[in-house]
Amino acid sequence: MSDTNPYEADELVSQYLDFHYGDTYFGVANFAHTCGEICNKIAKEQNFTGKALDIGCAVGRTSFELSKYFQHVDAIDFSHQFVATAAELQQTGTKDFTVKTEGQLTDRKTVELSNLGYGDTVKHCSFKQGDACNLDDSYQGYDLIFAGNLIDRLYSPQQFLSNIYSRLNIGGVLILTSPYTWLEEYTNKENWLGGYEDDNGNSISSLDGLTEQLTPNFDMLKAPQDVPFVIRETARKYQHTLAQMTIWKRTR
Ligand SMILES: C[S@@+](CC[C@H](N)C(=O)[O-])C[C@H]1O[C@@H](n2cnc3c(N)ncnc32)[C@H](O)[C@@H]1O
Repeated sequence: MSDTNPYEADELVSQYLDFHYGDTYFGVANFAHTCGEICNKIAKEQNFTGKALDIGCAVGRTSFELSKYFQHVDAIDFSHQFVATAAELQQTGTKDFTVKTEGQLTDRKTVELSNLGYGDTVKHCSFKQGDACNLDDSYQGYDLIFAGNLIDRLYSPQQFLSNIYSRLNIGGVLILTSPYTWLEEYTNKENWLGGYEDDNGNSISSLDGLTEQLTPNFDMLKAPQDVPFVIRETARKYQHTLAQMTIWKRTR
């Protein structure tokens, strides 16, 4: 694991502002917005009336989307810069940023929350810095927890997953997305949930690992689905990725 957190860098703050609030590319819908819409649809189907947690919220787009349904949304990220940026957007409704075009050249952009259809509900969000693997005991009693593309960026996904059920109400729902891009830079190999062969030569997928971790407390609510996303790196370089979304209901 690397000692410096890449998610504290200004360049990544800008990249994530563009990812969450900027243009869409190659016809792929905005990922953070889509995930929020799916969460709210499930909340409606399940008649949830309580609160939600967006863990690994980055610069906050899914949290703002959740705030349309939920009266309270705790939104937590390990990166001080990300939560400070989300909180600034919440308070001022606007944020300027620059995106890389090529080399040292950049373009200036502005997020205006009101142009994206957000109004007073953004006040329902509480942005705080925190560690998903070592969350304060006060974070509990949720109807819905969303962890978007978080698990393969954690130093211990096991620590996160073994504890997360206790923060959900019985009947509450955990929604995970991940492209399962395990990297030793973030997660020591012995902590990968999948993407390796076990001692008997069996391929262990991340979905296998997730299922094993979550089965003691959860049932899978719906079949896994792919949710695509595009992150712009420069004017000519983009990451086009498929995250797998899995939806788990706490039944015990
Ligand atoms: C790949 S980004 C995904 C962000 C956002 N959920 C999305 O879907 O766009 C991973 C996020 O997890 C955060 N993160 C990494 N380790 C974390 C930890 N231990 N606790 C909380 N957040 C963490 C990073 O700061 C980053 O915002």
